[in-house]
Amino acid sequence: MAAKKAATVTSILILLTAFNIPEGLGSYCMATDCTNTGYHQNNGLSLYLSVCCAISNLGQTVTIRDNGISKYILCPKLRPKSCPELMSCQEILEANSEAASGEYSIAHLNSTVYTAYCKMDITDCGEGGWTRIAYINMTEPGASCPDGLVTKDYNNIDHSVCGINLGGAGCLSAFFSTNGLNYSKVCGQIRGYQYHSPDAFQGSLSVGLDSYYVSGYSITQGDNPRQHIWSYAGGVYQNDITQYDCPCNTDFTLNLPPSFVSNDYYCEAGLPVGQAYSALLYPNDPLWDGKQCLGLEGPCCTNPKMPWFNKAIEGAGSSYIEVRSCTRFGSAGGDTPLDILELYVK
Ligand SMILES: *[C@@H]1O[C@H](CO)[C@@H](O)[C@H](O)[C@H]1NC(C)=O
Ligand SMILES: *[C@@H]1O[C@H](CO)[C@@H](O)[C@H](O)[C@H]1NC(C)=O
Ligand SMILES: *[C@@H]1O[C@H](CO)[C@@H](O)[C@H](O)[C@H]1NC(C)=O
Repeated sequence: MAAKKAATVTSILILLTAFNIPEGLGSYCMATDCTNTGYHQNNGLSLYLSVCCAISNLGQTVTIRDNGISKYILCPKLRPKSCPELMSCQEILEANSEAASGEYSIAHLNSTVYTAYCKMDITDCGEGGWTRIAYINMTEPGASCPDGLVTKDYNNIDHSVCGINLGGAGCLSAFFSTNGLNYSKVCGQIRGYQYHSPDAFQGSLSVGLDSYYVSGYSITQGDNPRQHIWSYAGGVYQNDITQYDCPCNTDFTLNLPPSFVSNDYYCEAGLPVGQAYSALLYPNDPLWDGKQCLGLEGPCCTNPKMPWFNKAIEGAGSSYIEVRSCTRFGSAGGDTPLDILELYVK
């Protein structure tokens, strides 16, 4: 009897050893972690599906341990056909109102699956359920500029920034695909810096949305025609009201910005008050952060959402979002290079 019991204990031990997956080989997750990497926990799904519908678990042996649960699941290499077709972060949030911000698997219209960061918290965009389509953070080691913009280095800032290189008036574009996601709202932020003397909306009444109407960034949707979403403009002086300054400055009286922009813009200058501009980057007063708007520029910083915008878009479908960086007289005399750019759709 004693011998039989010992044998049973031994075989259990062998079993446990056999299934003890070395770290780094299979993926291991607590039930809560599994929820974070994929779909809402259970919620009508078998444990198998709730684990194996998460793309990060495909082809992996997944260990699940939680109160009362201890299971080993081998997920197939292809996503099971019976996985729910959650096609956006908004759908994931609707399926589980407690879903946290993080990476999730999302089904594409063509049934392939990709991974995207979902912003589920209500900070910045005022609501959750956003699918991220652009994330540039040049303060992170190894970060690179998006295709279309030029990497620039200055000796008074400790990381590269993303700007433009144009001999005359014009724009450079970076495009961000929504992976077929049908959206009706866009949220995002840009942090830039003043270089030399950008010109805000000077000259914009004669050129239109498809051209260099802003010294700064034009965020648009589609190309037939482009639809304006938001503009980030760099003005030249904080404490002045010429045509090269921000229209939000106190007592600004010119007929700017153009009507297609309306109030959907942020504008700021970074040159210290009282200083004359030269061929320098002014890194101490980042643009559009809602801070350090001195003198007449005060009203340009009063929107508490800055640097974030959140805009409803009619009939966007799933078309790409374009970020154009523009200069009125060439980038040697005016640029607003960025180090942070984020775009979300829902
Ligand atoms: C599905 O669409 C995505 C994004 O357009 C594309 O990258 C992928 O190749 C497509 N897959 C198939 C099987 O069509
Ligand atoms: C950018 O990266 C820095 C450094 O890793 C981090 O502290 C900061 O929160 C990031 N900014 C955004 C907007 O994610
Ligand atoms: C996108 O959503 C809108 C509103 O829900 C709908 O009318 C339109 O048909 C959808 N477009 C596509 C391509 O699914």
